[in-house]
Amino acid sequence: MTATQGMAGDYDEHSQYQRAVADTGTARITDSVAAIAASAGSPFVVADYGAATGANSMAAMRTAIVAVRARNADQPVVALHNDLPSNDWNQLFTNLESSPDSYQHLPPPPVIPLVSAVSFFQPAAPSRSVHVGMSFSAAHWLREQPNVALPEGFYFCEATGDAAAALARAAAADWATFLAARAHDLAPGGRLLVQFVGTEVAADGTRHVTARALLQAMAEVAWRMAADGLLRADAVRDYVLAVYARTVDEARAPYAAAGSPLHDAFTEVECRTDRVANPYFTKWQQDGDAEAYARSYVAFVRGFTESSLRDHLFTPGAIDGNVDGALDEFFDRLRARFAADPTRDKFDDWTLTVLLSRR
Ligand SMILES: C[S@@+](CC[C@H](N)C(=O)[O-])C[C@H]1O[C@@H](n2cnc3c(N)ncnc32)[C@H](O)[C@@H]1O
Repeated sequence: MTATQGMAGDYDEHSQYQRAVADTGTARITDSVAAIAASAGSPFVVADYGAATGANSMAAMRTAIVAVRARNADQPVVALHNDLPSNDWNQLFTNLESSPDSYQHLPPPPVIPLVSAVSFFQPAAPSRSVHVGMSFSAAHWLREQPNVALPEGFYFCEATGDAAAALARAAAADWATFLAARAHDLAPGGRLLVQFVGTEVAADGTRHVTARALLQAMAEVAWRMAADGLLRADAVRDYVLAVYARTVDEARAPYAAAGSPLHDAFTEVECRTDRVANPYFTKWQQDGDAEAYARSYVAFVRGFTESSLRDHLFTPGAIDGNVDGALDEFFDRLRARFAADPTRDKFDDWTLTVLLSRR
């Protein structure tokens, strides 16, 4: 079964953190466009993999298109938005019309918007057609829901023994598959920019894993619901959020070493982790409004976790069968916990950036 069906209904309104991550890619997008030789009359193709409903995708696309048109104002441009078939594509097209960030408001000639409703673990564009490929806050999702028991928590980094090895293997295979699919899509000389949750390994060996405190808080709230007779304990034990925060070394594994499967496909431009400031926490530090902080933090979390929790925790686990009620109760408890102590479960981020050039 797939790891997620997509983002929850009002994702666009509660994805300021994902926007902050994508904003760190702005100069990289502009530089990537500048690095690509494209003949004046033929279309320049920009693809965004894991675009969701597009509010953030529009802005990144617009950056790329402005850079293309700065070089040649008449260059035809194709904007290709990729996501799963279950994505809310109607909302993406609504955003294309109405969002102030939409590239549809740029001066003519018009940009042709296209969608690619397939998994990004397979080719998602005609072979050798994409000049700039981008992916923000998406390629950390695993292809399938892992079948492991994880009583220690909800996140890969709490796993030990066989479960830890199985999750690392799945993540390695999925990343290599993602890159092989992009090697298919990209034109020779094309660029691929991927930004997603990462793990930073400090000089003393400490591993800083994006979102670890959040996922521990979520597991503790779920275990408390099990103790209160609202959730089946075996469902809590068997649940894992199918997201993997890679290290720089794990990101490089499929292409960096001579003899690695994609060594001949890509040249690395950049591969690194960086902190991205937490917009919800920063606001709380400024205004001290813990209730508002907790509401915005929970709405952000619900946007990207609800589909996974619904399919893989609350549908098998809600004892009275009321999945929506149990989800509401879970997020309400999480909100109360965040409001009681804004520092305790703060979302910390070490964004992993991978920028590659197709040979
Ligand atoms: C957190 S959203 C990020 C959306 C957008 N890129 C942004 O920065 O706001 C992650 C997106 O990845 C998509 N996704 C997850 N697995 C995918 C897959 N296998 N193929 C295509 N899209 C996928 C989800 O459906 C979701 O829309």
